Amino acid sequence: MARPKEQWGTRMGVILAVAGSAVGLGNFLRFPGEAARNGGGVFMIPYFIALLLVAIPICWAEWAMGRFGGRKGYNSAPAIFGVLGGRSGYRYIGVLGVLIPLMIYMYYVLIEAWCLGYAWSYLTGTIDLGQDPAEYAQKSITFFNRFVGNAADGALFEGGAHPLVYFALITFTVNFFLIFRGVSKGIEAFCIRAMPIMAVCAVIVLIRVLTLGTPDASKPDQNVLNGLGFMWNPQSGEGEPWYAALLNPQTWLAATGQIFFSLSVGFGIIINYSSYMKRNDDVVLSGLTAASTNEFFEVCLGGLITIPAAFVFLGVAGVATGVAGGTFGLGFNTLPVVFEYMPLGRVFGFLWFFMLFLAAITSSLSMLQPAIAFLEEGLGIGRRASVTLLGLITLFGSSFILWFSAGSTALSTIDFWVGTALIFVLAMFEVILFSWVFGVERGYNEAMRGAELKIPRIWKFVIKYISPTYLLIIFIAWCWQNLPGQVQLLRDETVPRLSMLLIVAVAVFLTILINIASKRWGRQGLEDDESTPLEAAP
Ligand code: ALA
Repeated sequence: MARPKEQWGTRMGVILAVAGSAVGLGNFLRFPGEAARNGGGVFMIPYFIALLLVAIPICWAEWAMGRFGGRKGYNSAPAIFGVLGGRSGYRYIGVLGVLIPLMIYMYYVLIEAWCLGYAWSYLTGTIDLGQDPAEYAQKSITFFNRFVGNAADGALFEGGAHPLVYFALITFTVNFFLIFRGVSKGIEAFCIRAMPIMAVCAVIVLIRVLTLGTPDASKPDQNVLNGLGFMWNPQSGEGEPWYAALLNPQTWLAATGQIFFSLSVGFGIIINYSSYMKRNDDVVLSGLTAASTNEFFEVCLGGLITIPAAFVFLGVAGVATGVAGGTFGLGFNTLPVVFEYMPLGRVFGFLWFFMLFLAAITSSLSMLQPAIAFLEEGLGIGRRASVTLLGLITLFGSSFILWFSAGSTALSTIDFWVGTALIFVLAMFEVILFSWVFGVERGYNEAMRGAELKIPRIWKFVIKYISPTYLLIIFIAWCWQNLPGQVQLLRDETVPRLSMLLIVAVAVFLTILINIASKRWGRQGLEDDESTPLEAAP
């Protein structure tokens, strides 16, 4: 096959694109909520264990697999899995590497539109929580519920399209415009500009939060230091030891799920992005840099803003209510109340939601590119046709979620089955394919090609034995804890069933396309190419 037509322009470009994919709503909204819900500071113990034992090792494997596939001329997970496994059957497992980002995009782009809508509301002053602080919380919830159509299915289309529909269309257009421009001119060019802007916005909001002091002298306990303590000190119940949360499997599940979602590991994204690298471009230091950038945004920015800000204005009870409202409760119900209390809150509210919007775009772009790559190389169609086809598929999916807006049920169902469960499944397949089928020794040498940093040799043992075992245990425990409730929902309610039908329909459609693509690809690339011998690791 010819070399891939698309390539990253610069090394900084690929690092920022991968980091941009990783840094998203997960860092600023999901992380603080998960930490606060699961033991505060103690949450960081399983979080860092999962980072070191599974996330970073799999990241390196994904980077190495992607670059290997790219060298063979392929950019999509189905083709790359076929090359790695040496059999066409492995291409079918690659369906997950297209399905996962595609399905997540369908709802992620809508949350992105919420962020744009909120940023716009702050800019124009249309988010008005009134003059009476006693009513702020209720007014914030009412605004959110109306904005996202929580009341009933079809609410967003009642009496004409509601604002969210227009924000969704704008967000869709921005995404597809950038994806149409291609990997280097679209994704890379955008991420290179957006990442520094995001960092600046987040640091400005962070400085504002850290300098809040004790805004209400009559409540001296509600100060910044105590806010940081609430987030970062171990939290345990009355009479429980500080490590009580560690004894609860839920803490470990939440920490592992968070790190996967946050780093975009197990999404099929890193494999696709790294396939656009040159054959000897470093993947080890680049992978680590992208992951570290994500951790900086997550722990140092996400972890220091949301909860401490909510704490100084709303106290323990206010934070607890926000956290209990889940990821969106904290971000979209509680924070507007905080901005209402904060001096210059409108400016900071705009900066915050605009930053979230940028963070979400750099992530959603990365969810589209794997499918674009697959359509182009699998069906042999051009950019215009692939973007149009993908546009139609995602427009249908997102409209489905927009329509079934009551209680965000469709969104949560897809997030549960794809955004959490399937990520574990794909990560497990990847680890097995890389370390057992492709071969861990070969994989190590492949990762070390052109590397500017030596991966410790223990990585081979970790990726072959520890990561899959850890993943399997976590996945079984997670299923044990969550599946019965979700299966019951599928039995009892129509919208979860329809959402599941959508997932299955897209999966079947992609499998049929893989069948067509597989015939096109034939056995090409399945045998190891002697002209690209693997160099020994230094
Ligand atoms: N990794 C992306 C996020 O954190 C999906 O939002």
